[in-house]
Amino acid sequence: MSEADEIIRLENVYKIFGPQPRGRALKLSKDGMSKNEVQAATDHVVGMTDVSFDVKRGETFVLMGLSGSGKSTAIRTVNKLHDITDGHVYVDGVDVQKLSGTALQEFRRDKMGMVFQHFALFPHRSVIDNAGYGLKVQGLDRKERESKALEALELVGLGPFAQSSPRQLSGGMQQRVGLARALAADPDILLMDEAFSALDPLIRRQMQDEMLAIQEQLQKTILFITHDLNEALRIGDRVCIMKDGAVVQIGTPEEILTQPATGYVAEFVQDVDQGRVIDVETIMNPPVVIRPGETISQVLERLDGQSGAFAIDDVGRPTGLLVPEDGIRAASMGTTDVSSALRIDFESTTGSQKFNDVYASAGRGLLMAVVDEGGKLIGALDPREIMEEMGRVEQLIDGFEREVFM
Ligand SMILES: Nc1ncnc2c1ncn2[C@@H]1O[C@H](COP(=O)(O)OP(=O)(O)OP(=O)(O)O)[C@@H](O)[C@H]1O
Ligand SMILES: [Mg+2]
Repeated sequence: MSEADEIIRLENVYKIFGPQPRGRALKLSKDGMSKNEVQAATDHVVGMTDVSFDVKRGETFVLMGLSGSGKSTAIRTVNKLHDITDGHVYVDGVDVQKLSGTALQEFRRDKMGMVFQHFALFPHRSVIDNAGYGLKVQGLDRKERESKALEALELVGLGPFAQSSPRQLSGGMQQRVGLARALAADPDILLMDEAFSALDPLIRRQMQDEMLAIQEQLQKTILFITHDLNEALRIGDRVCIMKDGAVVQIGTPEEILTQPATGYVAEFVQDVDQGRVIDVETIMNPPVVIRPGETISQVLERLDGQSGAFAIDDVGRPTGLLVPEDGIRAASMGTTDVSSALRIDFESTTGSQKFNDVYASAGRGLLMAVVDEGGKLIGALDPREIMEEMGRVEQLIDGFEREVFM
């Protein structure tokens, strides 16, 4: 990935809270002393220690970790709500630490929008005025403000409430106004700190879905904070897990789930429904395709452990499945013609489907066809492998559990 694709970059960032942040506490933290040890030795709080990550343009990057792990501290370095103690923060090539005064104001205003956990709306202003508030600060005239604010409200499903008072809105709707306000100014970057955490689970899921839909359309860069791994895995392109101010692991949801870097991550992962995250593509096999003129026994010989071979039509779409049992039975009766032993009741799926989506079909035990958007055969999914993969993840977690947690 080239540097041009990165929009946010933290490089070995340290943030120490206390009267002498650059003193002994920083040195000890750099020497690898843990947050608790540094605190005991120096009475300074380690907010972040040696944090590095980069966020790519258009990416949803999630910071995940327990309370106090340094998530908010990290997000606040991006718009310089916090000065950092050591390291570098770059946004779109700009060294954020060097900004001050008007340049800093403009940078915050033009580059990013922020949404917090409890979004404070002005109670006496209409929803549309609240959504357009940032634009007012930018100096847009009323008409322009209203049209942009309305557009943003429509994106979050609040168009009909534009003239309402915030007091008429539920908590979830108020959060949406917060999101609309951030979107109205059309910033490149959205910083979202526990934006959905105060919402009850159902509304929260709805908001996640809507954000995914909005993101598909707008392709913003989103730095999203949550302490909920399910939420992180659901909305993140990549997830960064933090603990005690340090980065523990950065990876795609699948990497986090299937290759947890430490026992700490594995412990989190344990609570997650794996099947919702792992997709078909990661475990499908290259399909065995039946060649024209091949006999049943020739196909069976080529199976090489796979539980079936597919017949395809002239554009590559699967039309039939030969499973070993059928083939052996037919061959034992002297049949050589493959077509007489083909099943057509096989299931098809796409590579991006998640395990959970294919569970019911996998339950039939038949090899499944994996097809692309055009319906062409691109892989074969063995139901046994789904079960194995799930088992493997569980074993991995069991293995970690026996270790001493870091
Ligand atoms: N202004 C501050 N002064 C002193 N210590 C602070 C300050 N802000 C944060 N901290 C400390 O830095 C550490 C990281 O805090 P931070 O708010 O970043 O955690 P978080 O991961 O966002 O947690 P939460 O999930 O509770 O929001 C904590 O130990 C916290 O007490
Ligand atoms: Mg926080």
